[in-house]
Amino acid sequence: MHVYALALEKGGVGKTCLAVNFAAAFSRLNLRVLLIDLDAQAHASQWLGCDAEQLRPEDSIIGIINGRKVPECIRPTEEGIALIPAHAAMASLPIQLASSPNSGIFSLQDALDQIRHPTPHYDIVVLDLAPARGPVLATALAAATRCIAPVQSENLVLRALRALIDSVAQAQRINPHLRGVSIVRNRYAPRSAGDMIYDHALCTFYGEQLLRTIIPIRASLRDSAGLQQSVFRYTSADAGEVRNLFLDLVEELISLDGGT
Ligand SMILES: Nc1ncnc2c1ncn2[C@@H]1O[C@H](COP(=O)(O)OP(=O)(O)O)[C@@H](O)[C@H]1O
Ligand SMILES: [Mg+2]
Repeated sequence: MHVYALALEKGGVGKTCLAVNFAAAFSRLNLRVLLIDLDAQAHASQWLGCDAEQLRPEDSIIGIINGRKVPECIRPTEEGIALIPAHAAMASLPIQLASSPNSGIFSLQDALDQIRHPTPHYDIVVLDLAPARGPVLATALAAATRCIAPVQSENLVLRALRALIDSVAQAQRINPHLRGVSIVRNRYAPRSAGDMIYDHALCTFYGEQLLRTIIPIRASLRDSAGLQQSVFRYTSADAGEVRNLFLDLVEELISLDGGT
């Protein structure tokens, strides 16, 4: 069971967009996929068609750290992706992670063990994180097998990337299954001389961690969210191209981590 954590301490870089469409791409390859929404803003849950009004806090990861069994919190979606949704009450998750009955840095790893043993219920688990460092990221990295960071060629984004790489190095001390960070260039369009400098820095310093597939700015990725569809269900002029790019990304990950 591969556990991919979508992380970067910068909003709007495409964590949720990649999480949802990646998960959908794995699912199209007939892999069993679970997405856990770890961001109180619940964008991934909404994108997957989950109605926030109908949810209770205990339907989210909050329920699990307070003793609910993981399968009780999993719901199906029209994408064929299983979902543990987020709830606005998760705004206090950093505090709850320190005080709830099943809390602590290994709480998510322990939770995933419930669906890993004796045989894995899922092939792929995708964790969608908020743009923040702190206990939620640390708990996710303690459970992840690989961290995925979407980036653009911008100073603030590259700073956030450096901070994330440090967090992952720390997490590897307690999680030997965490293979490292893979970087996805998303909404990637270096145009100005300044952009080119950051693009060059990205390739020079992080070349080994860069995935080959680059996701450009595409209307289907912006517009499909509002219709609560992944690009695999959304129909538009550029959706086919974007689907192929996500299938390429997923193939790259399978070649790094092996099939399941
Ligand atoms: N490659 C892309 N092309 C067009 N729009 C994109 C692309 N990637 C992300 N977006 C859009 O940009 C916005 C921010 O992306 P999002 O995934 O929510 O970022 P994050 O989760 O990192 O805060 C969303 O509206 C999303 O649909
Ligand atoms: Mg997000």
